[in-house]
Amino acid sequence: MNTFEPSGTVAVIVVAAGSGTRLGHGQAKAFVSLSGRTILSRSLDPILALADETQIVIVAPADRLQEAERIGADALGRASGYLTVVTGGATRQESVARGLAALDARVETVLVHDAARALTPVGQFEAIIEAVRGSGRGAIPGLPVSDTIKRTDVQGLALETVDRSQLSAVQTPQGFPREQLEEAYASAGDDFTDDAALVAETGFPVTIIHGDPLAFKITTPWDLRRAEQVLQPAPGLALPRTGVGVDSHAFAPAENQQPLWLAGLFWPGENGLSGHSDGDAVAHAICDALLSAAGLGDIGGTFGTADPRFDGARGEVFLTETLRMLGAAGLRVGNVAVQLIGNRPRFAARRVEAETVLSGILAAPVSLSATTTDGLGFTGRSEGVVAIATALVYPA
Ligand code: CTP
Ligand code: MG
Repeated sequence: MNTFEPSGTVAVIVVAAGSGTRLGHGQAKAFVSLSGRTILSRSLDPILALADETQIVIVAPADRLQEAERIGADALGRASGYLTVVTGGATRQESVARGLAALDARVETVLVHDAARALTPVGQFEAIIEAVRGSGRGAIPGLPVSDTIKRTDVQGLALETVDRSQLSAVQTPQGFPREQLEEAYASAGDDFTDDAALVAETGFPVTIIHGDPLAFKITTPWDLRRAEQVLQPAPGLALPRTGVGVDSHAFAPAENQQPLWLAGLFWPGENGLSGHSDGDAVAHAICDALLSAAGLGDIGGTFGTADPRFDGARGEVFLTETLRMLGAAGLRVGNVAVQLIGNRPRFAARRVEAETVLSGILAAPVSLSATTTDGLGFTGRSEGVVAIATALVYPA
């Protein structure tokens, strides 16, 4: 399914076609629930947070393609991105090969990621992309081995200790210049459990960069419990929470005309709103609703009027910072609804455009509506506007 014309050069192949034998849930592992959402859905979160426009290729079991499409489309929401779902093979290596065959022509850097590493932080993806682009080589995340490692014989008798200073426990995403990964797969002989092994066997160097313990692979029931514990929300934040926010701004006086920014859009030919920032009442009401839902106070207390960063700042600056605060508190945005009350600007013609811009900033659906007050009050006299927003947030 293509929801977007791709222009990025990064692709992430998310392999999710394994059967999950060791987890023992009697169904494909990527579709097992991890604190209320599937492992596959959670594994897409950091990929969608990447600044680079990314082709996401989900490799799924043949009988779960529709479900994978739905999970991918839900995760994508209205964010810009490009989703492809393909059928996996009998081994991980075959699954990756099928994902590779589905890459868009423009892709230059390919990351291969195990859906089973559902809690991998976005920083690990960014570090791998940067390392591959900067060096023109494969880059993979790895952690030092902390246990003492022994070689054993077939009966399980301990033989010699292996020097662990030379060992690294490697994770995903593993990133490569596209042509190197394609060449490695084209000439693949043996079956390997990771992509770096194939690429290295083909003769290309692969660098190990520092991984993150959170990128552990959910393999056994114990791993799943551990992942659930990591996701345990702070007390009181277990359920979705709603919030409300209101903001009003006056139109600037005639002798001090300024451009109008409202709902993240520039409105040519309209008189602007006054305020310490750009006066975008819609963006400010959304921030207040989000902070209220998160229990993080309000916009006045968060973005002081003395802070020069917010002097004349666009609504987007406040929204982005609010979103960052929610993320730091372990919360995601469910959706936002805003109503604008005022005579001007005439909103209907640009409603969808504004919804697209705001939804893009928040990576969650934002719906907008507008109304007038039948000539009553300051909005009726065209002295200013009011925006009222509600928001739903829930544990990430
Ligand atoms: N994988 C895949 N296709 C396969 C085998 C594995 O896409 N034929 C994927 C899995 O979905 C997983 C990743 O490769 O995201 C790592 O594999 P692993 O943890 O071994 O998962 P499973 O093979 O599903 O588990 P098990 O080995 O316990 O059956
Ligand atoms: Mg396996």
